[in-house]
Amino acid sequence: MSAHFLFAICQIGAEAALKNEVLWKHSDFRFAYSRPGFVTFRIPDDVVRDRKFELRGTFVRTWGFSIGKVSGTDGHQLARDFWKPLSERYPASVLPQFKHLHVWQRDRELPGDFGYEPGVTPLADAVGELILEHKPDVGTDWPLPLNEDAQEDDRILDCVLVEPNEWWFGWHRASSMETHWPGGVPQIESPDDMISRTYLKMAESLLWSELPIQSGHRCIEIGSAPGGSCQALLERGCLVTGIDPAEMDPLVMAHRNFTHLRAKAKEVKRNTFQKVRWLAADANVAPKYTLDMVEAIVSQPNVRIEGLILTLKMTDPELVSDIPLFNKRIRSWGYRQVRARQLAFNRQEVCVVATGLNPPVVDETSRDLE
Ligand SMILES: C[S@@+](CC[C@H](N)C(=O)[O-])C[C@H]1O[C@@H](n2cnc3c(N)ncnc32)[C@H](O)[C@@H]1O
Repeated sequence: MSAHFLFAICQIGAEAALKNEVLWKHSDFRFAYSRPGFVTFRIPDDVVRDRKFELRGTFVRTWGFSIGKVSGTDGHQLARDFWKPLSERYPASVLPQFKHLHVWQRDRELPGDFGYEPGVTPLADAVGELILEHKPDVGTDWPLPLNEDAQEDDRILDCVLVEPNEWWFGWHRASSMETHWPGGVPQIESPDDMISRTYLKMAESLLWSELPIQSGHRCIEIGSAPGGSCQALLERGCLVTGIDPAEMDPLVMAHRNFTHLRAKAKEVKRNTFQKVRWLAADANVAPKYTLDMVEAIVSQPNVRIEGLILTLKMTDPELVSDIPLFNKRIRSWGYRQVRARQLAFNRQEVCVVATGLNPPVVDETSRDLE
């Protein structure tokens, strides 16, 4: 029987962190191969047969079961080669169970460097079209949308362009939110007047976490300048307070639902947080300092913040091994669900979302209205 492999996608430079956390959780996996942003593991047979298997990890942007790889310079030949092992492995009647085709390139740069942002590229779309051109005839109608978000439980064919002329392919089932998106990157429409790329981070964290943040909810961000993430929250109709000693962008300042407290978090009056439902922190300080600041707020007797969206800066690679301790500390504040992910739009940082605090006892209707 041939060996089975799995591939995982991460940010460039996060390969070691990803490898360590995967091998720590799955001691029967064997590291096989890696390129920047792309890591493969040899996996036991039973993992492939396990319908419920999901690869989860802070640094796992997305993943798939590997089927093979092809390389060459003739795109049509590569596209035909993409289908060969699939047609050998699955009868024609089974192939239509694959509901989507996702094609993407591994990251070229750290997100934000040289204007680079992760996501589906024109090359990836062109390769996808080529693959579809060579789709085998299965004797029935088989729509196979390219690079669209999948639905829960859909089976997806994956093609990772590790190099433009080196395609690795496989499949996965859409389970956790990021596995619905091509390459684990949400397709976010940024506004023309986007204040900063932190807009993308906040938009992704909201999509990934599925926090029920709604229009009229009060949110606070610590470390809010110049205002990209506040812009994303304001767009959703939230009532936003930004805490930052630095200047905010005039666009945010002019928004009627925005308040700027020009101060450091610890200088702000404690009653500021009393009617707040959601707290974000994105201060450029070490994780311990961010957690100290947030703990001082959430441990106040009259404060009941339902959810936290914390950006923890991995200022030192050694901090990666402390992520479980950070999560444990956040749980000790009463949040039952704490999840960490290096978002596709994060740089050397991770996003931690905490939820599951007991329902607030205050009157729901009065606190969201202006
Ligand atoms: C990465 S920037 C924040 C970007 C911002 N979230 C946005 O969307 O544009 C970090 C900010 O943290 C702020 N900061 C650092 N320490 C802080 C503190 N103790 N309290 C509040 N803000 C702080 C800095 O002034 C800086 O503007």
